[in-house]
Amino acid sequence: MGDPRLLRPSERVPAFDTPELHALLADMQDTMTSLDGAGLAAPQIGEPWRVVIFGTDAPNPRYPDAEIVPRTVLINPEITPLGAELEDGWEGCLSVPGMRGLVSRYRQLRYRGVDQHGRTIERQVSGFHARVVQHEVDHLDGILYPMRMTDMSQFGFAEELFPGQGLEDD
Ligand code: NI
Repeated sequence: MGDPRLLRPSERVPAFDTPELHALLADMQDTMTSLDGAGLAAPQIGEPWRVVIFGTDAPNPRYPDAEIVPRTVLINPEITPLGAELEDGWEGCLSVPGMRGLVSRYRQLRYRGVDQHGRTIERQVSGFHARVVQHEVDHLDGILYPMRMTDMSQFGFAEELFPGQGLEDD
């Protein structure tokens, strides 16, 4: 946080299955895996493209109680909220290390985009899955989760908010 590249809107990816795109995704996957992230957006590694990855095939140690979100590559995503219902939940971000904040997000939404081969992905999701997608797509519009917060008393260090849960290293 503080790097101006995180505040710029990213550009749509014009072509799929290219060596550049596969290299970008490999970099992103390495970064996300080594930091145990729930997701990662390209601008977080300094690349201004509308590319996000999220999900794992196993429970995430940073979000041990969260439902499993399938491993996904999502490019040029569009989000459509389904209903007006909002839900508060705790978020962290690899670009805001060591912190957690309570953020209100749409509970249910549809998202649409393509994968690295240009194949359409369209899903209707809710809860943690919907939250992760909203958080990652925000990165593509230059928005970090603290900018979404309305009550800054619900923002703090993970080790203070959730002591003894092993969340202090990220
Ligand atoms: Ni983030």
